[in-house]
Amino acid sequence: MYTNWDDLKAACESCRKCELCKTRTNVVVGVGNPLAEVMFIGEGPGENEDLQGEPFVGRAGKLLDKMLDAVELDRHTNVYIANIVKCRPPQNRDPKPEEQEQCIEWLRAQVRLIRPKVIVCLGRIAAAKIIKPDIKITKEHGMWFEKGGILMMPMLHPAALLRDPRKKPEAFQDFLTLREKLREIGELDYS
Ligand code: URA
Repeated sequence: MYTNWDDLKAACESCRKCELCKTRTNVVVGVGNPLAEVMFIGEGPGENEDLQGEPFVGRAGKLLDKMLDAVELDRHTNVYIANIVKCRPPQNRDPKPEEQEQCIEWLRAQVRLIRPKVIVCLGRIAAAKIIKPDIKITKEHGMWFEKGGILMMPMLHPAALLRDPRKKPEAFQDFLTLREKLREIGELDYS
């Protein structure tokens, strides 16, 4: 059980629990404010993230930053961003169930330290692991789920929006739904 970030970060950075450790450049632990009320969780690092050691720094990340900005959220001040797996799967393949299972302990430790009010899952893989295994992301994105006292919402992955920009308006609507909820629970002052 980790009670501080330095210990958690150091342990995570030296993890060798699965084979992804053999091909990684950096362990991508997470970025943001550890006191944030909102966490965003993606699938796993891609090439840029592996090289820089920070989540969502490639093209999908730039789009995520834009959408966050539109609802007055920002990766360095009022959210925390992490992934289901902390090391890049080779050729950006989906993380294997056993890799997700080994790695999710780090995410659980992060959630215990942050104690967010809201968790947003970016894409099917994160939503299936965190919200429910049979999630239908195209139908259920933007809906609220509650687990263990935390509000959770699946969203379309920003990489999916780059592949099909026609989905951007419905994805943006989910950010507005998130903003509404944060207003409602009084976590952000949007006045
Ligand atoms: N896609 C993800 O799911 N996570 C990242 O950190 C980058 C791209």
